[in-house]
Amino acid sequence: MSTKKSEFGVFGLGVMGSSISLNIADKGYELSVYNRAEGGEEEVVDRFMSANEHRKNIQGFTDLKRFIASIAKPRKMLIMIKAGPTVDLVLNNLFPLLSKGDIIIDGGNSHYLNTKRRFEQAQSHGIEFIGAGISGGEEGARKGPSIMPGGKKESYDLVAAVLESIAAKDDFGKTCCTYIGPEGSGHFIKMVHNGIEYVEMQLLTELYALMSNKMSNEEIAEVFESWNEGALSSYLLEITVQILKKKEGDKYLLDLILDKAGNKGTGSWSSKAAFDLGIPNTMMSSAVFARYISSFKDVRIKMSGLIDSRQSIDGDQNLVSLKKAYECARLINHQQGFKLMQFASDTYKWGLNFSDIARIWSNGCIIKSHLMNELHKEFQCSADLFDMDLVTDQLINGESDLRETLILGLRQRVSTHCFSSSYHYWVDMTTKSLPANLIQAQRDFFGAHTYQRVDSPESEFYHTQW
Ligand code: 6PG
Repeated sequence: MSTKKSEFGVFGLGVMGSSISLNIADKGYELSVYNRAEGGEEEVVDRFMSANEHRKNIQGFTDLKRFIASIAKPRKMLIMIKAGPTVDLVLNNLFPLLSKGDIIIDGGNSHYLNTKRRFEQAQSHGIEFIGAGISGGEEGARKGPSIMPGGKKESYDLVAAVLESIAAKDDFGKTCCTYIGPEGSGHFIKMVHNGIEYVEMQLLTELYALMSNKMSNEEIAEVFESWNEGALSSYLLEITVQILKKKEGDKYLLDLILDKAGNKGTGSWSSKAAFDLGIPNTMMSSAVFARYISSFKDVRIKMSGLIDSRQSIDGDQNLVSLKKAYECARLINHQQGFKLMQFASDTYKWGLNFSDIARIWSNGCIIKSHLMNELHKEFQCSADLFDMDLVTDQLINGESDLRETLILGLRQRVSTHCFSSSYHYWVDMTTKSLPANLIQAQRDFFGAHTYQRVDSPESEFYHTQW
């Protein structure tokens, strides 16, 4: 075993940890990797090291003290483990073994409030802590993910070279990794990234449901493929084309997959954050609930017996209209997602740079798309998608297409959770007078909660003995 000190360490050789380790090693860094040798993981390090025997810049360890001793000070290490309580267990094992100034980067999908807490806990041990959102799945980790690090800028500067070298490159050759902001901000934006991802996936799912009444998987794939050639192009649209075409024997694999959607929580965290910050984030919660509804398969089977097929009326599919509706719904999804980050940034004083965030999301991550490149440019002049002509022009033009899409769903008895949310949000956000005056009157009636008046300054509150 080499006595040379490593420049970087990776803790955890799961799918993501292994891929990212190889990515780091490819860039020429001296690397130490660690995985526990228990609980069914006895062979993990040995297998990884044998598969990479030819690489002379990797040292493998199953002994934590030796792993830590093998890294040059100040030690820099990335932990790639399942988010949740395991992270705390690992940190509690690491803290006593590390030295002042060492840097731990948590590259999992940790909750941003846990990251804030762990950042403070690490500081009390003299350890620097970075919460880094990493997107791109296994392939991204291996070939170039999008990386969203949050923590102290001085700590980031010490690990920037490694993180920036392994990240994807944008259209201009710049790295898709940039310092995001203090404490939990990196994990917060990764959480919102995933919320946007949930909606993008759900919109494609709703289109698939609307189209499949009259079109085969292959035909839907052809339509999506043509959309992916223009301004709508995105990674999720691209993989959906491949998924629709995939066959197992003479059957489409997609038709064999059980219709119960899973989730690991980041979508619901985004929705909860929006509730806590008091910001409408209707599409993400619709997407999360659509997944939850799908998981109630037994109830659905039972209840479906109550419904007569005549309750579904044939509807005309207009592909041009569906495409425009999809464009609009995606814009609203991104408007809501970036707005959520803007509120968080203002509330927590993070100073997020949205043009930069759109840029590092233009490649490497799951929601990379042509739109993200446009937003990178647009955010240099505007703070909100609703202030961008590019966005509002399309939404004004596409409102009727969104409406037609909802009508098609209603006629076909196909739910359009996210399309509907996007439409209602757009209608409300462009309506001067909403019926919320009645809510205020009701609140005042039963609870003396007071109301403001249209004929008085907003600073004045009234109560009526109804
Ligand atoms: C990514 C993905 C990744 C993961 C999510 C999906 O950016 O690489 O978002 O983080 O696939 O955890 O989570 P669900 O299981 O909740 O869909």
